[in-house]
Amino acid sequence: MNERNDREWHYTSVAHDAVDERHHGSINVPTYQTSLFAFETYDKFTQAAQDAQTHHVYSRGSNPTVLYLEEKLAELEHAEMAKCFASGMAAITAAILSAVKTGDHIVCVNQAYGPTRMFVTQYVKRFGIDSTLVDGRSVDNIRAALRPETKLIYLESPTSMLFQLQDLRACAELARSRGIATIVDNSWATPVFQRPLELGIDLVVHSVTKYISGQSDSVAGVVMGAKRLMSRIAEDEYMLFGGIMTAATAAQLTRCLRTLPLRMERHERSALTVATHLLGRPYVQQVNHPGLPSHPQRELAARQMGGSSGLFSFESAESPEKMREWANRLRFFKIGVSWGGFESLVTVNPAGDLCSPGARSLIRLHIGLESADDLIRDLEQAWADVQDLQL
Ligand SMILES: Cc1ncc(COP(=O)(O)O)c(C=O)c1O
Repeated sequence: MNERNDREWHYTSVAHDAVDERHHGSINVPTYQTSLFAFETYDKFTQAAQDAQTHHVYSRGSNPTVLYLEEKLAELEHAEMAKCFASGMAAITAAILSAVKTGDHIVCVNQAYGPTRMFVTQYVKRFGIDSTLVDGRSVDNIRAALRPETKLIYLESPTSMLFQLQDLRACAELARSRGIATIVDNSWATPVFQRPLELGIDLVVHSVTKYISGQSDSVAGVVMGAKRLMSRIAEDEYMLFGGIMTAATAAQLTRCLRTLPLRMERHERSALTVATHLLGRPYVQQVNHPGLPSHPQRELAARQMGGSSGLFSFESAESPEKMREWANRLRFFKIGVSWGGFESLVTVNPAGDLCSPGARSLIRLHIGLESADDLIRDLEQAWADVQDLQL
């Protein structure tokens, strides 16, 4: 499928459903606001309980409203099966723990989401699981970190502060040749722009809180992959940890999903407009956006992604104090963590070791659904206000 048709297919996928007579032909799946499902006879109950994955018995295991969202997400991600969780972190930790046991070793990208890194490098130590963080831009770094006991390569591409990519196909091939599992955090690109399972990755995780929701009103996560792996997660980590998604949240997120492709195209276009504007501005030293021709991994980005989303960063030679004053003066960008919603956001961090030489601040922008022209005017009026401050 070419990129155009592929994008068009996403619109159909989120908008179309076969008529499902179980719900009286209702065009939306009802919210099954129930903790349990009752049976007329003990035989039916026993039969359902023996196969709780295909029957609804108890909502900590499965619920029709949640299952509907899981099936829609799996269709978009080209996965055999999905399980929805209470948060991105609930999904990520469940996926990781499904892949490792005591004595195993994890290789993880050094810029994975902070709490994910903490889980991999600190939390699982108590179970005797060791880890190595690597710069994932080169698959050779990943290969060099592998040990005989490595059982998982954890990836996040692009990373969500410096927007560096891993070659997902090459990582998947390396892992498969050594019998190692792979997980990718695909929250940034969403299935609209990247489908790691098609590149050979075993499991995809999302913070559904971000673009899939898009409304900044829910916290949610999902794990997707082959039925063989997902059935085990459904029985173990999903049922035993209990970090499940409720029917009410699933109903809300199903509404959100209908507009995901529309929103992603808008985020993409506006973010590229703003990022291009920033190139060459006096307060900008470098723009980190995988969709720009100047991105060092532009060729890889074009090969493994069908587009780019609305989150990127830029590095500045100005001090974090001055850039925070700049952020204070922004009218349309709100100061806050998270991303993926309708609203534009800004955070200002001190530049770390991984930033380019001379950078003092790392500024992350999320470009929301506002007019890109208004956002650019906002960035510039705030800069005009602070440019002469000695900070
Ligand atoms: C890249 C990435 N992955 C995962 C998460 C965790 O998701 P949640 O906050 O839904 O648990 C976040 C949250 O900011 C994130 O940025």
